[in-house]
Amino acid sequence: MRSFIGRDILSLKDFERAEFFRIFDVCDMLRPHAENRRNTDLLKEKTLLTAFYQPSTRTRLATEAAMHRLGGHVLGFSDAKMTRAGDFYQESIKDTVHMLEYYADVIAMRHFQQGAPAEAAKWASVPIINCGDGWGEHPTQVLTDLYTVLKERSRIDGLHFLCIGDMRMRTMHSIGYALTKFDCEVTLISPPDMSPTDEWKAELREQNLRFREVEHVEEAIADADVIYMEPVVQPDYTKARDERGESVGKTPSNYKVTREMMREKGRSDAIILHSLPRMDELPVDVDNTRHARYWEEAFNGVVLRMALLALVLGAVE
Ligand code: CP
Repeated sequence: MRSFIGRDILSLKDFERAEFFRIFDVCDMLRPHAENRRNTDLLKEKTLLTAFYQPSTRTRLATEAAMHRLGGHVLGFSDAKMTRAGDFYQESIKDTVHMLEYYADVIAMRHFQQGAPAEAAKWASVPIINCGDGWGEHPTQVLTDLYTVLKERSRIDGLHFLCIGDMRMRTMHSIGYALTKFDCEVTLISPPDMSPTDEWKAELREQNLRFREVEHVEEAIADADVIYMEPVVQPDYTKARDERGESVGKTPSNYKVTREMMREKGRSDAIILHSLPRMDELPVDVDNTRHARYWEEAFNGVVLRMALLALVLGAVE
């Protein structure tokens, strides 16, 4: 297994199976600090910089919270408009990262351009963590999701994943790549104009992932151990910011999971994950059913980022 020290976390495409489990082991090791709300001094000599060119609630704050839990330092920006990258100058990724690398020991980046964190990694002498790039990937979210599945179901192999939503989304790309390393069946459901690209499907087939596509959630819900949801009513992820317009669409029933559906057709032990934020695809009355695990995911998101920071900064081997 490759060392994580100094490594960029850009994509799950090139992750080895053992590397997932190594990260999850470190999560378990560091989890008590988050559970007990007790900070440690493991990274007291290190600084994280968060460079967020797109809005975020969970990813940025969970990454910053993780660094605080480990006793490290945090600086950064959550609105590129207040930097030279987002004003008149439109400063390039290369020039920006050449500055930022002197300010911190690791950079967590979210960007509206697919590939921007990979471009940053070319120029930075410190690790870059991709916190979501356009339609590209969202590796830290999907590591969080899979860690949640492992904690809640005690395994990942052998489970049937039902992925519902916009298949162009970065989370969908990352979970597809990740699941190629596990013995899982996958069912995909998306509106026709948000269907998986031929290129992505070819990559999944090449890696022997067993998947099928169906049109309505009711065709597949009874098979699902893990229901993985994303909105189909959502912003354009290739824009720095996409405000909600006057009219916002409603989610068709094909792509919704309701409490009634879970009661009548879902598996008794199925769990529902959602990276959030949600629209109307997941009504709030699902929250207090035994299936909902998205709040556990939110907590695990801090633990997972603690593990990644500790690994790439060499605090654990
Ligand atoms: N899950 C996720 O990426 O949420 P944020 O956009 O709030 O970071």
